[in-house]
Amino acid sequence: MATVQDVAKKAGVAPITVSRVVNNSGYVSKETRERVEAAVTELGYVPNTLARSLRSKRTHTLALVLSDITNPFFTLLARGVEDAASDAGFTVVFCNTDESEKEERRYLELLLQKKVDGILLVPARLAADSVSFIQSQGTPVVVLDRRLSEPLTDVVRCDSETGAYQLMRLLLQLGHRRIAILSGPPHVSTAIDRVAGCQRAMADFGAADLAVDVYYGSFTHASGGQMARRAVATEPRPSALFAANNFIAIGALRALHDLGVKVPEEMALVGFDDLPPSLITFPFLTVAAQPAYEMGEKGTRLLLERLSGKNGDPPREVVLPVELIVRQSSGNGPGKAG
Ligand code: RIB
Repeated sequence: MATVQDVAKKAGVAPITVSRVVNNSGYVSKETRERVEAAVTELGYVPNTLARSLRSKRTHTLALVLSDITNPFFTLLARGVEDAASDAGFTVVFCNTDESEKEERRYLELLLQKKVDGILLVPARLAADSVSFIQSQGTPVVVLDRRLSEPLTDVVRCDSETGAYQLMRLLLQLGHRRIAILSGPPHVSTAIDRVAGCQRAMADFGAADLAVDVYYGSFTHASGGQMARRAVATEPRPSALFAANNFIAIGALRALHDLGVKVPEEMALVGFDDLPPSLITFPFLTVAAQPAYEMGEKGTRLLLERLSGKNGDPPREVVLPVELIVRQSSGNGPGKAG
């Protein structure tokens, strides 16, 4: 394995010059830089950044701890994080918790041992325990996508409550009187806020004969299907479903298809999170779309500001707007053609 000394000898320079070129630090003439770079390539030299990290106490690595990167919402969020981090010379490690607090804690302990410079966290619960733990180790943290029970650090999230209000208002204005809300876990702030938005719309637009059932499951396809089957089995059957995220909506859609329930003719369906146009040729779902990429990018920039010591402000909460996109799945109202 080639060393700094081998490269220096090959290029006919001192080892410190090789370090300057590799670390892009200090002055090196163009001609010398080119000679060193040619020697690095020819010898296949890979710098040992561990030594540099020990000196600088920086690994130039951030961590994104999220629920499930296979969810297109989190895929886009992760891309926003990586683009902003890469622009600043940082790499990003990704950890999937599947909404498990145990997994979240396990990853956080690992990441802190590896001395990542900062953490972007999608917390598995509203309580701020994980943020307090990270901060107790002196590592900056920014929370994405969700609220915290107390203002311990910067947060970048979307306005789930208003998005849910808009979707539920649409269903009520279409004349639906029996609606089922298919929600995520009751300890996750996005589930809490989306149910709250529905309830506010019901208070503003709900008729006296309105009947709404709330089901709490998980943000998964399987749970969406199970909750949809339970809702369809109730008597009288609801005429509309509100899905609290994209995976729940897709699971519900599959269950309705298996049950032979037509959407929207027999059951209207609205949901949170749009599906990437690159994956869906004919968008069908009425959704409250979240700017996931922007959320990831903005959160990373806040974290980098904290890292550089530029920002001593108190913790900030950035709430991004969601966009209501009305499509076929919400239909024209109970009993009307789709
Ligand atoms: O599909 C992902 C979205 O639903 C995120 O807002 C996440 O928190 C879940 O609620």
